Amino acid sequence: MTVLRIRRYPDPVLRARCAPVGTVDEEVRRLLDDMLETMYAAPGIGLAAPQVGVTRRLVVVDVSEEKNAPLRLVDPEIVWRSEETEVAEEGCLSLPDIYGEVRRARAIRLRYRDETGALRELAAEGLLARCLQHELDHLDGVLFIDHLSSVRRNLLLRRYRKGQRAKKAEPARA
Ligand code: NI
Repeated sequence: MTVLRIRRYPDPVLRARCAPVGTVDEEVRRLLDDMLETMYAAPGIGLAAPQVGVTRRLVVVDVSEEKNAPLRLVDPEIVWRSEETEVAEEGCLSLPDIYGEVRRARAIRLRYRDETGALRELAAEGLLARCLQHELDHLDGVLFIDHLSSVRRNLLLRRYRKGQRAKKAEPARA
């Protein structure tokens, strides 16, 4: 497995609408494994294909403490969301070091294909439901900052750009 380079905002690939995968073949399975490796290394609890520069509808997630419950999702689709919503803080591997409070459905049902191509359904709530909604947004070019008020978003983006500039100015380390 390979750790892939994570694309950062404002990389335009993060705004792409991703194409359906369809057939789950060896190439798709390898990419899902590489995405998991990349997510665990980051470390993060979810990763969507555009975050590694691939505009296809693929997501990996693992919200377990032990990091032993990976989910590989091909062409995932939310088929139900609860009316009840919840607000919680989110971050994103493509927008490091900034966090915002996002309102999401508390529970969802998801339909997807697994790594064998089998059609599956999953009921999720709490952190898993939140993480899945965040990752599925990525497949349509939507980032968590898009759910914030423009005042809050601009504040966070200013902080983000400042942080990115400061990082670039750091001397290279061997
Ligand atoms: Ni993200």
